Amino acid sequence: MSLKCLTEQFIQKLAIRWCAYCQKFEEIVAQKTLPRFANQPRNVSIELPRRIVNPERIVMGDDVNLGPNALLIAVTGYPGPTMQHSDRRERKQTFDSSISIGSRVTSTGQLQVAAMSRITIEDDVMFATNVNITDGFHGFTHIKEAYKYQELFRIQPITIRQGCWIGQNVVICPGVTIGSMTIVGANSVVTKSLPDRCIAVGSPARVLKIWDDQQEAWVSAERQT
Ligand SMILES: CC(C)(COP(=O)(O)OP(=O)(O)OC[C@H]1O[C@@H](n2cnc3c(N)ncnc32)[C@H](O)[C@@H]1OP(=O)(O)O)[C@@H](O)C(=O)NCCC(=O)NCCS
Repeated sequence: MSLKCLTEQFIQKLAIRWCAYCQKFEEIVAQKTLPRFANQPRNVSIELPRRIVNPERIVMGDDVNLGPNALLIAVTGYPGPTMQHSDRRERKQTFDSSISIGSRVTSTGQLQVAAMSRITIEDDVMFATNVNITDGFHGFTHIKEAYKYQELFRIQPITIRQGCWIGQNVVICPGVTIGSMTIVGANSVVTKSLPDRCIAVGSPARVLKIWDDQQEAWVSAERQT
């Protein structure tokens, strides 16, 4: 093997080792800089970068693992600085919000949870990448004012019950409860509540299959009705 080859191999190994060290360092920083939640959970990992607003309003379960770009916001006032118009004085809305995340909840990345009232995610829920859960809408009751300056409305709590699997790019709307062990397919928009142990897909999400205890299998929701 030529000297050039050996040098290249050496540099490659060094670079890989350096990247591994950087990753380890980032994990340590992420761990050491976790904010104080409302409780004292054990073994929580929320990768960097992340944005956690009002952590004292967030109850976090043990062994939670959230991938990069998580956004956990317990909103207490609207508009915030980025939504204010310099020439206008919007009426400030205030909220007594809270978020509860159960034990062993996992997300691959980009989990966005924004609560104006209450968002509850029970134990063992699995989120694929880029899931949005927001329990209110931007106002759209006036047509002469940009929506970002209108009051937030239709604020209603959201609950995701134990053991659900929420697929990639799912949006969960205000007032929705997703029953336990339910699966929501990729790219779905959940506008209405879903029962326990069903598979729902689409925009708006509709129940496709329901678990049948006797057959011990998923059966078509059409056949059940
Ligand atoms: C919902 C899901 C679990 C499949 O469930 P399934 O019971 O095996 O569904 P089937 O393959 O039998 O499909 C049944 C019908 O639903 C449709 N369908 C399946 N998933 C769908 C989705 N996400 N959106 C819209 N329609 C969907 C199928 O095309 C099929 O339609 P047809 O009857 O007109 O042919 C799967 O499609 C899915 O979305 N998984 C999430 C994947 C993901 O997010 N992965 C990220 C890593 S965790």
